[in-house]
Amino acid sequence: MLGELRRLGIEDARVLEAMDQVPRHAFVERFWRVPPSLEPSGGPELQEYRVTDESSDTVLAQVYDASAAILIRRSDPGVPATSSISAPVIVASMLSELQLEPGQRVLEIGTGSGYNAALLAHLLGDPALVTTVDIDPSLTTEAAERLRTLGYEGIEVRAGDGALGVPDRAPFDRIIATVGCVDLAPAWVTQLAPGGTMLVPLEHGAMHPRVLMWCDQSETRPGPATLRGRFVGRSGFVRVQGIQASRIIWPNESPPPTDPVTTPLPSAVAQVLDPSGLDRGNPVAARAIWNFAIYLAVRDRRASRIMTLSDESSRAWIRSGGLATHGSLGPALGRRLLEIAADWIDLGCPGLDRYALRFEPIPSVAEGGGPDSKSSPWSIDRIDYRQHLTLDSPAP
Ligand SMILES: C[S@@+](CC[C@H](N)C(=O)[O-])C[C@H]1O[C@@H](n2cnc3c(N)ncnc32)[C@H](O)[C@@H]1O
Repeated sequence: MLGELRRLGIEDARVLEAMDQVPRHAFVERFWRVPPSLEPSGGPELQEYRVTDESSDTVLAQVYDASAAILIRRSDPGVPATSSISAPVIVASMLSELQLEPGQRVLEIGTGSGYNAALLAHLLGDPALVTTVDIDPSLTTEAAERLRTLGYEGIEVRAGDGALGVPDRAPFDRIIATVGCVDLAPAWVTQLAPGGTMLVPLEHGAMHPRVLMWCDQSETRPGPATLRGRFVGRSGFVRVQGIQASRIIWPNESPPPTDPVTTPLPSAVAQVLDPSGLDRGNPVAARAIWNFAIYLAVRDRRASRIMTLSDESSRAWIRSGGLATHGSLGPALGRRLLEIAADWIDLGCPGLDRYALRFEPIPSVAEGGGPDSKSSPWSIDRIDYRQHLTLDSPAP
């Protein structure tokens, strides 16, 4: 696993050392394997595994596959899973992105198995510096017991809605959500220590790109803090439950119909967006597709799956062989999709690293708006925060 993580670009020696020390297989008894795609679907085809004292190499190979998440809680087949242990490459990336220093206090939203909490304790040098909360009390009971048995006594494991934070353990130098959130929570901002940062996989179309955010130090206005942020990586997580769950910003719906009308793509679009690149595992083609999907979801709330716009039962999507449309609104959705693709190409095909983010509390927006509320080209209203997005100039 460590060799594979290095090959995938993980360079942080302290994180690799922690992942060497903390036995991932000790955090799971029964699991289902998720294919290395973005959205854990929890479909009926998933294979179940059990980790026992005599576990075979095959089972351990699944647990230690650097690129694959494993599901640890799912109810009915076909219903999305509610808990997973993220792929080691995502766990390692997030721990590196947090830039942890020994002695810092950390809040984790989404205890799951307790694996990431143990890694945090290892990196901070003291389990008592870690507080972790999960909405599923059956998970926190198991995780607390497991962490104790494995020698991580002192990690504070709480059951509850992470959107409320854990006020009696605040302030925190770092807050990390390991679940796909719809918004940042005002409680996290209040519980963040001065100079602290938060790392949140934030729902965006059908994805949860990770956003690193910090309080805006240049702020002079009174009232709730605004935050600045950057996208730091691409990922897909199980969706948040509880307070944030009822807000739907993008309608991520069922798979596309099988009988679309397909027309050729304009050549400028076909040159950069080639969906067959995903199947062939071509990393350049895949990066372009994901980058366009991010931009599409910024521009249109009807963005659902990757490179798809949908409205009621109509949809349009870019697929191998052209532009597919279905339903009475399909042709109009198709024109809009190509228009947004042309804009993205004109902007230089921006990726995650080109966006500057700003999060402004929505009440203050209603009271007359902050400095960016009119000047930023795009914004997304979440629950408590309006996310503004601007593009940096392309690198020379
Ligand atoms: C990807 S798993 C976390 C994996 C975990 N960090 C680990 O190392 O095993 C996401 C977890 O978030 C939890 N969750 C979902 N909504 C939540 C909420 N509102 N507050 C706290 N936890 C939540 C789920 O129950 C699930 O266990």
